Amino acid sequence: MKIAIAGTGYVGLVTGVCMAYHHHHVTCVDVDTEKIGLMRQGIPPIFEPGLTELMAESSDNLEFTSDYKEAYRDAEVIFIGVGTPEKKDGSANLSHVFEVVRQIAETVEHDCVIVVKSTVPIGTNDKVEKALRDNLVHPVKINVVSNPEFLAQGSAVHDTLHASRIVIGAEEKEAGEIIQRVYEKFDAPKLLTNRRSAEMIKYASNDFLALKISYINEIANLCEIVGADIEDVAKGMGYDGRIGSKFLNAGIGYGGSCFPKDTKALHWLGNYYDYEIKTVKAAIEANENQKLKIIKKAHKYYESFSGLTVAVLGLTFKPGTDDLREAPSLVSIPILLDDGAKVKVWDPAGSRNFQKIYPVEIVYCDMIEEALKGADLCLIFTEWEEVKFLQADDFKMHMKKPVVIDGRNCYSLDTFENTGVLYDSIGRRTVK
Ligand code: UGA
Repeated sequence: MKIAIAGTGYVGLVTGVCMAYHHHHVTCVDVDTEKIGLMRQGIPPIFEPGLTELMAESSDNLEFTSDYKEAYRDAEVIFIGVGTPEKKDGSANLSHVFEVVRQIAETVEHDCVIVVKSTVPIGTNDKVEKALRDNLVHPVKINVVSNPEFLAQGSAVHDTLHASRIVIGAEEKEAGEIIQRVYEKFDAPKLLTNRRSAEMIKYASNDFLALKISYINEIANLCEIVGADIEDVAKGMGYDGRIGSKFLNAGIGYGGSCFPKDTKALHWLGNYYDYEIKTVKAAIEANENQKLKIIKKAHKYYESFSGLTVAVLGLTFKPGTDDLREAPSLVSIPILLDDGAKVKVWDPAGSRNFQKIYPVEIVYCDMIEEALKGADLCLIFTEWEEVKFLQADDFKMHMKKPVVIDGRNCYSLDTFENTGVLYDSIGRRTVK
């Protein structure tokens, strides 16, 4: 099928490449000409395992352009995968989506199905369809289908090719069937529903996962107070199939471009309809507190950070990505800097982006040892494999004072028993 994709971020580009891999003819559109230039050379503008290889393998079916007219004019299906960032009031900013809608209405010359993949508030697909029909320049038949995306950064290619489910929200049977055909070669359960349910499935899923994380984080905080161990508690809970063991890793809060935005957007939407969704509100508040946890812990050992050398391991909101959006490190590092600490960081992917925000205030290290050297304190924000691989001796050998605060529970407590390293983690006893 001839497919056009608007937006080449995580959702748009990965969807496009996977569709091309499954033999559709795909044209990816982006306003950013620099990104288009890179992609034409086979270089993805995002850091995503397996994407470069799949782009190369599918290159015969893949085109990139910033000329939307060329792409939309005779497409059979157009996916909208542009960003829906958070507005100041917590609601979703739909200006990119409606800009694409305007371009499609102006351009399409054949009947086609428009698929909204971007995460949008419930009811948006109806508005998209109305805006299209009101503004179509050529007399064609269009239908709008909601098809939310469930890929996670760092495993986006795998999550798309082996999706947990494909949700297709259509108001007209024929449009739903066309999109089912698009996904024919994707081996995943397919759920056909109406548009509003599809839109809700996306928010309900993300917010449930955010809630699960905030819940385990709060249980972890209580474990510290009552002397329980969160790793055992989560394990014991996870054996229950109704609860499941995934997304029960306690830490310093969720970040990324999705959970923080989607929890706030659903809460905003509830309020808009005069229905406050209290559980989601609690998840948001708990997460904001949790992001400060590493600094609160550090204050147990140092009243002030002034004059201290602090080693920071990991900056990104999770491993396997260079994305810093809503990362807990962005909340804590400014506090260290304001207090007069010398901050040395190591992150295999995120340093370049962090350097755009703090070009000179921070020392960026290529090696973990370099960051640890002479440090009075080590803070772990991201569970990169290289970090998990460290031993007590690595901290002891290089740091001035081996005080390690692990925001992602990278090690078993045994690693630090009788080593002279002070190890404080989340929801567990401190090893001294
Ligand atoms: C998330 C969802 O997992 C995807 O299903 C969804 O499609 C995506 O949002 C989206 O809406 O586009 P992502 O933000 O890439 O994906 O990352 P996750 O792996 O879900 O992690 C989010 C945050 O939760 C990270 O900061 C991670 O450290 C944290 N987390 C995750 C925990 O603190 N504990 C856990 O047990 C799991």
